[in-house]
Amino acid sequence: MNVKRLEHPFLVGKQVYLRGLQRSDIDGPWFDWFHDQDNTRFMFNGSRPNSRESMEAFYEHAATSKDDLILAICMNEDNRHVGNISLQQVSWFYRRAELGIIVGDRSVQGRGVATEALKLILAHGFNRLNLHKVYLRVEEGNKAARRAFEKAGFVEEGILRDEILHHRAWQNSVYMGVLEDEFFKTFPEFA
Ligand SMILES: CC(C)(COP(=O)(O)OP(=O)(O)OC[C@H]1O[C@@H](n2cnc3c(N)ncnc32)[C@H](O)[C@@H]1OP(=O)(O)O)[C@@H](O)C(=O)NCCC(=O)NCCS
Repeated sequence: MNVKRLEHPFLVGKQVYLRGLQRSDIDGPWFDWFHDQDNTRFMFNGSRPNSRESMEAFYEHAATSKDDLILAICMNEDNRHVGNISLQQVSWFYRRAELGIIVGDRSVQGRGVATEALKLILAHGFNRLNLHKVYLRVEEGNKAARRAFEKAGFVEEGILRDEILHHRAWQNSVYMGVLEDEFFKTFPEFA
């Protein structure tokens, strides 16, 4: 792989790399990921249309926040911006952060993009940000997300009942987490 041709790579994997968001990304495919009702069926984002103003505000926050690390997921093959991934609400005291992810480009879903991006950002969180734990909440019925999280080392810690109203029915959330020592035991190549 010729790393030089990648555009501002920050964390590089075999299939994808992560980089900082750029203002120009707002005019790219990112805008419409949240209009795709299939993509957002397990997310709060799809409940109202996206707007340039909200994207600008999100971008400004991502560019300046010290407690939220929000990165673009891009394909090594053509630099295409296919998703975003984040470590948010970092608690520097308890050394934990909440994980968020969307692989919005449906043409690459199911190819391991999320799994590789998760491993890259987890390794960075544990190796460079000094985190001890990364956690998330995912709707119980979001099988693809749960599988990707499991493949990246997350384990289920508990069920939160009736957390999300989805298609007029209450859904449980699954709380998942991964600890630094577990991650490096499973993926020693990142240590
Ligand atoms: C969830 C999401 C991030 C997964 O991204 P992805 O790049 O397709 O994920 P991966 O390819 O790395 O892994 C997905 C796994 O789920 C499996 N999968 C997909 N659909 C599934 C289903 N309906 N039931 C069970 N497993 C499923 C895939 O086969 C794959 O597992 P495998 O490699 O063992 O075959 C992506 O679909 C997405 O962004 N969805 C919308 C936003 C979202 O739900 N975000 C998470 C909020 S917590």
